[in-house]
Parts: sequence; C-alpha cells; structure tokens
Amino acid sequence: MKVRIQNIGIITPGGDAPGMNACIRAIVRNGIFYGHKVYGIMYGYKGLIEDEVIALNLRSVSGIIYRGGTILKSSRCEEIKTPSGMKKALEVLKKRNIDYLIIIGGDGSLQGCYRLLKYGHRMAANFSTKMIFIPASIDNDIYGTEETIGFDTAIDTALSAIDNIRDTASSFDRVFIIEVMGREHGFLAVDVGLAAGAEFVLIPEMPYSIEKICRQLKDGRASGKTSEIIIFAEGCGEPYVLAKEIQRRTGLETRVSRLGYIQRGGSPTARSRILATLFGTHSVDLVNKGIGNRAVVLQNGKVRDIDLSVAVRGRKKINRNTYDLVSRLAI
Ligand code: F6P
Repeated sequence: MKVRIQNIGIITPGGDAPGMNACIRAIVRNGIFYGHKVYGIMYGYKGLIEDEVIALNLRSVSGIIYRGGTILKSSRCEEIKTPSGMKKALEVLKKRNIDYLIIIGGDGSLQGCYRLLKYGHRMAANFSTKMIFIPASIDNDIYGTEETIGFDTAIDTALSAIDNIRDTASSFDRVFIIEVMGREHGFLAVDVGLAAGAEFVLIPEMPYSIEKICRQLKDGRASGKTSEIIIFAEGCGEPYVLAKEIQRRTGLETRVSRLGYIQRGGSPTARSRILATLFGTHSVDLVNKGIGNRAVVLQNGKVRDIDLSVAVRGRKKINRNTYDLVSRLAI
C-alpha cells in the first residue's frame, strides 16, 4: 500500500488508565514503521494550548509497555472548553503541521476533541487536522465499544483489594461497603461486583431500596451468611450515610472502604496491553488510509472504528443481565 507521510500528534488528556503507555508505544512504533513523524503532546489539552510538544522516536517508547499512567502526562483542563482555549489549541496544531491528532482518553477527552474538531471547521474552511479517538478509561463508559483500555486492569486491582477486605469482613462478621470509581456510571462496579461475588452492587443507573437491602441482609444471616460485601459506585453518593443506616436498621457492624485512586494505577494486565496495542495499531491503519474523525472501538471482540459523532452522542447502557446475575448468585 502506498502511504502518504503524515505528522501524527498523540495526546492523553484526563484520567490516566493502565495500558495508555502500551497504546502510545504501538502508535509510535507503527507510525515510524510506515514512515510517519510522531509527536507527543504533554499534559493533555493544557499542553496542546501551551505548545508543549515533543518529537517521539523508537526509543522514546522503550520499556513502557508494562507501566501504568501515561508517559505523556495528563491534567484536567477547563480552558479547552472555551473558545479562546480552542483557538490557541488550533493555532498550535497548525503551527506544528499536525495532520492527525490521536486522542487516548475517556469521556471528557472524547467530548473535548469533538468540540475542538467542530470549532476548527467552523472557524477555518481550510482546517485539516483529522482526529482519531482511542477509548482509554477505567470507567468503561464510552458508547460503541465493549471495552476501554485499562478497564480490565482496574477490575483486577479492585478485586485484589476486595479479597483482602474479605478477610476482615469474615473475621469480624461485618458488612463492608466498598466504593469503586466510575464517575456517574456503574460499569466498573457491576463487573467488580460479579467477579468479587458481592451480595449487592449499587449503581447510579439503578434505584435501590435501603429497606430491601436490610431485609436481604437479615435473611442472609438467618440462612447462615456471616459477612457481606456491597459494591458501591462512587456516583451513588455518600457511602458513610448508607453504612450508618444499615447498622442502625440491622444491628450489623458495617464499615466503608473507599478504593479511590488505587484502581487507576498499576501495571496493565495482559488483556489491557493487548487491547491497547490493537487499538493503537488500528489508529495508524486509519492514518495510512487517510481516514479521520473516527473512534476506535471493540465490537463483538473485533477492533473496528465508528464515526466520532456516533461515539459522542451515544449513551452506553448497563448490561442488565450481568447486573441481575450479581443478586441471583448472592442468595
Ligand atoms: O474517569 C476516571 C476517573 O478515575 C473516575 O472514575 C473518577 O471519578 C475521576 O476520574 C477522578 O478524577 P480526578 O483525577 O480529576 O480526581
């Protein structure tokens, strides 16, 4: 295939996810293999606005496939949501002759790049930078993809913490409410709950009744259960309030453990690394074909791409069967 040489910029805005580095490596190595020039934009959209751009070579990505976080660093950037921030970002893309911007990130990064793309086309008829979005987030909340980079690792990390907490739960006959991340979604909570064998999974997408939880806790104890795990998605509010209420109504000693940022770091699992490598490779295949403004996704176990606008507008739904299975198996 005859490939037109392009300048590719890679950026990792927003929350880091394990496997981002494996993805960067795949883009850099594939990109250079096909003759492209590859640049890293540091500190996410903030670095784009401030023109923090570095050239990446084959050795820039040596020894990073196993590392969590992102070598390109990240930041939360409010300015990119404003017209003046977007204007500055577009000027940098133009000045650096970036033909393709590959964005590796979560929902906020997706919205950000789509806004920038639309603003670019509105402001300049000759705006030519193409965008490719690669979903990477422990939240797994991107529409159109079965999995995001880092999700599998975050589940494993949460599980190893929960397995430890179980020791105390069972030694003290306690109820444990374990808060997991996921922003306003329960995708991480549901899969963690299923894999942990939790009694309950509470997520923002599904209403729950404290009365029903307390009744089931009491029934469980009557049938011989001695400790329970409740997975609580952070989007559900305040776990300490729930813990107090459960203890008041049931008399069962109830504790809270917030897993927090432990879930976002660490060496990526084999599955996260492979997904990251395949997603990164697919993005360079798109560059080679001259295709842009797509989101790379996993559908029916295969790597594909969909229109950026579809990924932006779609709303991913909780798998009801998986959610129901948690409670069916907790009897
Ligand atoms: O999107 C990833 C995530 O870790 C969410 O699960 C969490 O709500 C959020 O980022 C935390 O963001 P920050 O790093 O800005 O505190």
